[in-house]
Amino acid sequence: MAMQDLSIGTSAYEVVLALHIAGALVAFGSIFAFPIMFALARRQDHRSLPLMHRIERMIERVLINGGLLIVVGAGAYLATAGKDWSRFFVDWGLGAAIVIGGLVGSVMIPASRRAEAAVSRDVEKASEGELELSDEYRRLARRLTVTGLLCSALVLATIFIMVLKP
Ligand code: HEM
Repeated sequence: MAMQDLSIGTSAYEVVLALHIAGALVAFGSIFAFPIMFALARRQDHRSLPLMHRIERMIERVLINGGLLIVVGAGAYLATAGKDWSRFFVDWGLGAAIVIGGLVGSVMIPASRRAEAAVSRDVEKASEGELELSDEYRRLARRLTVTGLLCSALVLATIFIMVLKP
């Protein structure tokens, strides 16, 4: 590890490294739970879907965006202290953070808002009767699933690249 030949305090570096990893856990942990939550809601209670999308959006705004700030801030400190800015794993981490932040802000949050509106209309239309999910809702739900899976894969790949430092 690059720390051995540095004169700065190792413990500060380690605390920030722990913060960096905790930020990644807080930011991205929930992404892996979303597919299970939505699969269950779609199978068991369509009427819970509008609330589920509101919860999903709140998690994206607070946990993912907030956690990303911590990951990037702590990562920048680590890259500076360890003189690692020229290394591939740091470039990859920055790229991953930008892509994930971009996908969450420009695809996931708007699609979740539109999915909530579409499924709320479906619930209203069905009243007390059988609820049929509209094509518009299905299309938006598919977009959310695909984008979420892409983010999850990127997070897993980034963890491997950060640890292996190729
Ligand atoms: C999706 C985003 C990211 C994830 C999931 C992530 C995850 C991790 C993990 C798990 C480690 C621990 C590796 C180890 O101790 O062997 C680590 C270390 C590190 N990360 Fe990230 N990271 C991300 C983004 C970034 C960014 C944006 C930067 C730089 C701006 C960065 C810079 C670093 C540095 C310099 C280390 C320290 C390596 C060491 O001393 O071992 N990371 N990261």
